[in-house]
Amino acid sequence: MHELSRVNVARTRVLVTGGAGFIGTHCCVALLEKGVDVVVLDSLINSELNAMRRVEEISQSKIHFVEGDVRNTPLVKKIITEHNVDSVIHFAALKSVSESIKSPLEYYDNNVVGLISLLQAMQETNLCKIVFSSSATVYGVPDRVPITEDFPTAAINPYGYSKLMAEQLLKDVAKSGEWSIGVLRYFNPVGAHPSGKIGENPKGEPTNLMPIITQVAAGNREKLLIYGGDYPTLDGTGVRDFIHVVDLADAHVAALRHLYANRGIRVLNIGTGRGVSVLELISTFKEVTGVEVPFEIVARRPGDVAECWADASLSNQVLGWKAEQSIEAMCEDAWRWKRDNPLGFAD
Ligand code: NAD
Ligand code: UD1
Repeated sequence: MHELSRVNVARTRVLVTGGAGFIGTHCCVALLEKGVDVVVLDSLINSELNAMRRVEEISQSKIHFVEGDVRNTPLVKKIITEHNVDSVIHFAALKSVSESIKSPLEYYDNNVVGLISLLQAMQETNLCKIVFSSSATVYGVPDRVPITEDFPTAAINPYGYSKLMAEQLLKDVAKSGEWSIGVLRYFNPVGAHPSGKIGENPKGEPTNLMPIITQVAAGNREKLLIYGGDYPTLDGTGVRDFIHVVDLADAHVAALRHLYANRGIRVLNIGTGRGVSVLELISTFKEVTGVEVPFEIVARRPGDVAECWADASLSNQVLGWKAEQSIEAMCEDAWRWKRDNPLGFAD
């Protein structure tokens, strides 16, 4: 048994910023299931309040929800003090690569200034435990796979730079005091809660693969455009490390346990350690759902890499956590969510 399994998180109080979003909602469910008291701060800029109700329905527990912006430092301080918060999981950020190129200032403001505001509020209230959502995007164009945490980092767009800046900030802050910081570099989160009550609900046009697949399957789009069939991969399409969002949520519970037992900063890959191609994902989707996904192979998308998948052994070892769920489960759950909720969270 892993040493961290002895760390009890029940009845601790966690502030989850961005808790109404895709990953945040699944993480709230995982936390509530462990008896954690959850306070969510979300501006609802990319989510809906109904998502929080669904989380409460699944977990049969109450959430303290505050609508507000993480850049509002006095508000964050007030929440930390009033709720006696023990630790923070920071999801709140903007996440679209294409939007970040169009509106870089908005991205730096939200993602970098937002983190500074949160850290200031934490420092002023003597709160020093934080899990931060980073991304495999910080590896830029990796020159080989699998990717380990010591690979060089690089960014090719403002979103990527905002994550790299945030990581740098956290590394510097970690040197300045008694902090416990977990930086989780997610690979490609997909899937949905098996209840079919929460899932990815992009406002506007999605650009990530799985939401587009489910839109095509639901008949909202004619076909999927596969960006590139000439990559040096087994079938010519891009290869990624798709990870079930429920596994990803569990990694946060494990990371919290780690923070309660250790000081300093840990940077960890959160993936399955397995690469799956775009064509493989589509054929698994059809196999498990019985629904066709018409596609056409077109030119490569600028900024894409051929292969991006994790060596997840460090997080497995440090956190005593491992991604368990199959590609089949990711497709089945993503489809159940889309099929049962054609209007997203609208009741
Ligand atoms: P999401 O957009 O669904 O959730 C983010 C939430 O943060 C939303 O509910 C949004 O309303 C809220 N928010 C944004 N700015 C805010 C602010 N200034 N103050 C308060 N709330 C704010 O995104 P997600 O997919 O759940 O991603 C969560 C985190 O994980 C983000 O930091 C993202 O960059 C990171 N990440 C996501 C992926 C992915 O593929 N989904 C991959 C790697 C990293
Ligand atoms: C993208 C972002 C990355 C971000 C990650 C998670 C880019 C260049 N990168 O990564 O910064 O961290 O999402 O949010 O946007 N694909 C198609 N057709 C589509 C959509 C995608 O063929 O309509 C392919 C892509 O070419 C890629 C794979 O599917 O090979 C996965 O794409 P996507 O879901 O967008 O994730 P990433 O490109 O890995």
